[in-house]
Amino acid sequence: MKDQFIVSGGARLEGAVKVDGAKNSVLKLMAAALLAEGTTTLHNCPEILDVPLMKKVLEGLGCEIDLEGARVTITTPAELRSNADFDAVRQFRASVCVLGPLTARCGHAEIALPGGDAIGSRPLDMHQSGLEKLGARTYIEHGAVVADAENLHGAEIKLDFPSVGATENILTAAVMAEGVTILHNAAREPEIVDLCMMLKSMGADIEGEGTSRLSIRGVEKLYPTEHEVIGDRIVAGTWAFAAAMTRGDITVGGIAPRHLHLPLEKLKSAGAQIDAYDNGFRVRMRRRPTSVDFQTLPFPGFPTDLQPIAIGLSAIAEGTSIITENVFESRFRFVDEMLRLGADAQVDGHHVLIRGQERLSSTDVWSSDIRAGAGLVLSALCADETSTIHDVFHIDRGYPNFVENLRSLGATIERIQEPEDSDLL
Ligand code: UD1
Repeated sequence: MKDQFIVSGGARLEGAVKVDGAKNSVLKLMAAALLAEGTTTLHNCPEILDVPLMKKVLEGLGCEIDLEGARVTITTPAELRSNADFDAVRQFRASVCVLGPLTARCGHAEIALPGGDAIGSRPLDMHQSGLEKLGARTYIEHGAVVADAENLHGAEIKLDFPSVGATENILTAAVMAEGVTILHNAAREPEIVDLCMMLKSMGADIEGEGTSRLSIRGVEKLYPTEHEVIGDRIVAGTWAFAAAMTRGDITVGGIAPRHLHLPLEKLKSAGAQIDAYDNGFRVRMRRRPTSVDFQTLPFPGFPTDLQPIAIGLSAIAEGTSIITENVFESRFRFVDEMLRLGADAQVDGHHVLIRGQERLSSTDVWSSDIRAGAGLVLSALCADETSTIHDVFHIDRGYPNFVENLRSLGATIERIQEPEDSDLL
């Protein structure tokens, strides 16, 4: 049975929230535990749907997993199975991050192709060509990506684009390859740094994390470890925009403000007052936001995952904004839902022009992915009456306790089961 959110417009959000570990980190860290026989423990794990899904994938490979609140323990056997469960993998894209560790540990990996999704086609060519440079043979067969490698060896690899997933798979294969790998144009996202820190604590020899040149000297064996997942900068950024959009005052804990440097600067330009702390920040907004332009880019650029939320802000800002999407080709599909809410937006290729409205107009809207769903909820908070957000399982994949957190900040929002005949809406 699917759930929906009923959201009342006109709220001013005020109070404090703490973010949990990053979705885009914890899933990769769970996969990295495959590299060492024994029990690895992760702390600060978020309670989101993707974590039990990754548990299922790793169990299918022979691991034992315990999820106890914010703690996950993964016990990896000496002998792993090398083909990931088809159904479990197909349910979420991030499962492809077992490709690197499995190739390194087993010399063979077979993983169902996750396919494209609502934000655009998501090919694996850079993952494959990186592994090939390390000595693997990779191919697509019967709907799966397969990698075979008798011996992985170090190599000089240059990515065409700083892909997060390709950087992770190359990194987790290279840590146990023979010799040195230099990865140029590597992704620099904080989640990549988090993965490097965990791999180093397992005994890996890596230099350059957080820069676009990673140097990895392969080691023969890695060891289990204990590691704390970094805070989720996208969830933290969502709360920052929520404060600005509702003319509110929100203090966000559990996040290094430098991971959100550009989004917070953009909010300052929109008129917000920002105070940064060691492990958090406060966003205060006393007036209607002023329009600002956004352009998504790999880190440290403006994150594509906050783009739908930036569209939400622009829809109610004073003035006109241009938003440019440079990372995913189809991420503007959700703009149609914003039009239902009364936004004045025009898509032109990978740009969208938005003329801000004083208030949006409540209606029924459908989430198409995690971030689009969150953007719709925040926009519904800025609408005149009550809106219904459908397909909220997308939001549950990335935002722990979203409804509870919104309520604690003063929003009126309810989760209910989708009525039987809702397809007729
Ligand atoms: C990760 C994040 C996602 C975020 C994105 C960019 C996870 C689970 N997901 O996705 O939330 O929006 O980073 O910050 O961590 N590409 C290719 N060939 C490849 C690989 C990628 O063409 O082999 C393209 C993609 O189609 C996309 C772009 O490169 O257009 C960026 O993708 P990438 O950085 O790899 O994103 P993901 O790792 O899939």
